[in-house]
Amino acid sequence: MCGIIGYTGHRPAVPLVVEGLRRLEYRGYDSSGVCFAQNNELRVVRAEGKLRLLEDKLAVMEHSLATTAMGHTRWATHGAPTEDNAHPHRSSKGDLCLVHNGIIENYQECKSSLIAKGFRFSSETDTEVLVNCVADERAPGGSLLEAFARALRKAIGAYAVALISPEEPDTVYAARHSAPLLLGVGAGENFVASDIPAFLPYTRDVVFLKDGEIVRITPSSWEVFSLEDLRPIAKQPRRIEWDLQSAQKGGFRHFMLKEIYEQPRAVTDCAAGRVDAALLDARVPELDALPFPGRLRIVACGTSFHAGLWAMPLIESWAGIPTAVEIASEFRYRDPLLTPDELVLVISQSGETADTLAALRIARHKGCRVLGLCNALGSSIAREADVVIYTQAGPEISVASTKAMSSQMIVLLLMALHWGKAGGALPGETLRQAVTGISTLPSLLESALPGIQAEARTFAARYSSCDGMFFLGRGQCYPLALEGALKVKELSYIHAEGYAAGEMKHGPIALIEPAFPSFFLAPHDELFPKTKSNLEEVQARRGPVIALTNPPRPGMELRADDIWILPEAWGPLEAFLLLPALQLFSYEAATYLGKDVDQPRNLAKSVTVE
Ligand code: G6P
Repeated sequence: MCGIIGYTGHRPAVPLVVEGLRRLEYRGYDSSGVCFAQNNELRVVRAEGKLRLLEDKLAVMEHSLATTAMGHTRWATHGAPTEDNAHPHRSSKGDLCLVHNGIIENYQECKSSLIAKGFRFSSETDTEVLVNCVADERAPGGSLLEAFARALRKAIGAYAVALISPEEPDTVYAARHSAPLLLGVGAGENFVASDIPAFLPYTRDVVFLKDGEIVRITPSSWEVFSLEDLRPIAKQPRRIEWDLQSAQKGGFRHFMLKEIYEQPRAVTDCAAGRVDAALLDARVPELDALPFPGRLRIVACGTSFHAGLWAMPLIESWAGIPTAVEIASEFRYRDPLLTPDELVLVISQSGETADTLAALRIARHKGCRVLGLCNALGSSIAREADVVIYTQAGPEISVASTKAMSSQMIVLLLMALHWGKAGGALPGETLRQAVTGISTLPSLLESALPGIQAEARTFAARYSSCDGMFFLGRGQCYPLALEGALKVKELSYIHAEGYAAGEMKHGPIALIEPAFPSFFLAPHDELFPKTKSNLEEVQARRGPVIALTNPPRPGMELRADDIWILPEAWGPLEAFLLLPALQLFSYEAATYLGKDVDQPRNLAKSVTVE
């Protein structure tokens, strides 16, 4: 959600910044802009729509001498995605330029007082208010750092911001509060950005910034200060081990497809150091830092929420821990009752989702311990949780989350095993079966994926013209059905509902008719006979049925319009085959319909607004 890059160094800054924005495109945006310093002047260029339109404008401009610039991809919050509302925004006095990710909640009152002081506005954004606030705070001849800090102290809300001024044309200022921002440290050049891939071709040395920190970079220096009193803060850069390769498509047509195919690797990496195949044992060492929970509250959004829902019955049955799962945007506004022995587990791929972060803060405020399950290193949630477990899935670029979910599910399953052992509730046989199954899962998945994709393509061609569809399942297949429907909506814009198969008869079954297909998740588990009955109820109403099931065996026969056979895995591990089938169906449906797979309309990868 909004991407920021700021650069100052020795290279032509405009192409570098545009290239950085391209690597932030995955965050989702609907307009873009750059600002560069040349001949002691700031030039701003902005465009509605995709980056290509910005590049067209830049192509006819002279900017080769600019070695300081900043760029922005905007995901509209205040005001439509027009050129006027696109960032950077310039102050009407003092010529400062600013880009911003987040929301300034008190912008209206600030704007009124600025108008009274003679400031003019040409956009509907909160960002233009902020840049004028900085200009307003600036005393003649006073320091820009101080003015920037004073303006930010007055701002209520969330922000990552970068600022440049024509008076200091080789300096970029930036700050963060509840929105992601990192510092990239190079040789004779420095960067600020919303995410690491933006500057990864130039440096792997990253300084993670905290809320309430403000930075100043020049080509030869970088400094971090406390926003509160501008006292310098010592920081150490950390070396990022993954390279640009892992943030590129690697021969796949889309990031999403690459990331779906990376799931066997993600499972292996997640299990590394946690599963001992030789000793048939599993543990999650990070959990040793926490007492055994009396209860568990899982809080998350989107796909991460579905991973939590999937894990809940495992944690209850294997570890005997009463577990509830909640959507973060609901949890945070309902004054939840938490018991002191309750552990709050927040799940977030990006570690930056605003609602999940707020839920974490509420839980901590209420005195609960918080465990974070994140993928992004050094993210806000990772830093603020009492204990963090990293999924180690590598960067996920496609807006639709895929490998992150499988890696979350593996870790959650291992947590259930870990607590199950610690509390003594876990049967030894379950542990052995789980460990054996996880050890062979990557190769099983790897060999199955091409076949699953071929089937997905066939069914996508057959069913993508429908106006709506159901995804139905019971037990562990219910959260997977929710995820299947979410993916279809996100990617192909076809209306899809995920439902508990047993709940269909209480209303949704009224939708069934010959043009409304239902995908039944019907693996050969203990609920198969129940799911089969629901499937037959749909068929009795002449609804087309696609059954995702396992190779036929006596007593487990199914009749359906289409049977989609998936390899059989032990118990909950079947989810790791069903999930890619659903992901690939939505992927193929979106490509069949010509949709933008990696950046679906209206969506953002990291949702940093509430
Ligand atoms: C956005 C993404 C989803 C993701 C959700 C939660 O909506 O488009 O793919 O599941 O945020 O993100 P998180 O980073 O907290 O897991």
